[in-house]
Amino acid sequence: MSLLNVKELKVHYPIRGGFFRRVVDQVRAVDGVSFELEAGETYGLVGESGCGKTTTGRAIIGLNHATGGEIIFNGKNLSKMRGVDRRASVKDIQMIFQDPYSSLNVRKNVLSIIAEPLRNFERMSPGEELKRIQALVDRVGLNPESIYKYPHQFSGGQRQRIGIARALALNPKLIIADEPVSALDVSVQAQVLNFMQEIQKDFNLTYLFISHDLGIIKHMCDRIGIMYRGRFVEEGTASDVYNNPQHLYTKRLIAAIPEMDPEKRFEKMHLRQSINEAYKTDYNTYFDQNGRMFDLKSISDTHSVAVQ
Ligand SMILES: Nc1ncnc2c1ncn2[C@@H]1O[C@H](COP(=O)(O)OP(=O)(O)OP(=O)(O)O)[C@@H](O)[C@H]1O
Ligand SMILES: [Mg+2]
Repeated sequence: MSLLNVKELKVHYPIRGGFFRRVVDQVRAVDGVSFELEAGETYGLVGESGCGKTTTGRAIIGLNHATGGEIIFNGKNLSKMRGVDRRASVKDIQMIFQDPYSSLNVRKNVLSIIAEPLRNFERMSPGEELKRIQALVDRVGLNPESIYKYPHQFSGGQRQRIGIARALALNPKLIIADEPVSALDVSVQAQVLNFMQEIQKDFNLTYLFISHDLGIIKHMCDRIGIMYRGRFVEEGTASDVYNNPQHLYTKRLIAAIPEMDPEKRFEKMHLRQSINEAYKTDYNTYFDQNGRMFDLKSISDTHSVAVQ
């Protein structure tokens, strides 16, 4: 059984207009997305800005209301649960955000930031709590004195480590990491990514890793889902997607990755040009008569593509 099963997830936002602010249309931010996560794997969600990655992640954890579809986590149907039951189940799902500064309360010190989830969900004596927080701070590689400091006293990479410590506090099973390193310097990015891989092993974590950076996704993920305008265009293992992309949109994304090898640069440039040409001429063949991307069709055990 998979740890997370997302079935036909839809998140539509109403667009209101006119004198009575009636709903005149819907933004289909996520429009029928299905995928599964196996325990222990890293699943990458990739696609251009506005394609619905964050909305998908937030709907899974319950920060966005799902208009339709089902979310089954650890055998429980979260979409049917409300209140206390849902809260207890989503305790096992934590989120790491893109901007570690705005996602940490600037008026609280690290101790209070990490203590918050513990106080919400676990009954610990102050002594136990302090011990737990000290262990977490140590695990994410910060000094013991850090717990009495405030977010502005840390660098971006350190702040992201505080966010990770907070996410780890309740021993979650699944972490949704939404662009966790996009706000960081390139040199710090690698450090944080490697650290995330380390703790994945230690804590037996499953990651839903959201990014628009295909280089990072390739480095981190076992399987990948490519999104475009609220739908999946392709899904497969990292090797399916990088070595054998099928959808024109995926090919275009892969061709846009800068080539490091100078000898291959010319070749890559030609590839990119021909894909861009094909994209211009064939673009419309990838949508049905309602302008909706086709459903995924499997072309191997691991690989599916949205084609007619
Ligand atoms: N509260 C909202 N009300 C209306 N539309 C929204 C709202 N939140 C998001 N959207 C729309 O939903 C779509 C998907 O947004 P989302 O934030 O999920 O994209 P994303 O893939 O995470 O993009 P990025 O890479 O820029 O973070 C966008 O078109 C966005 O404008
Ligand atoms: Mg986003």
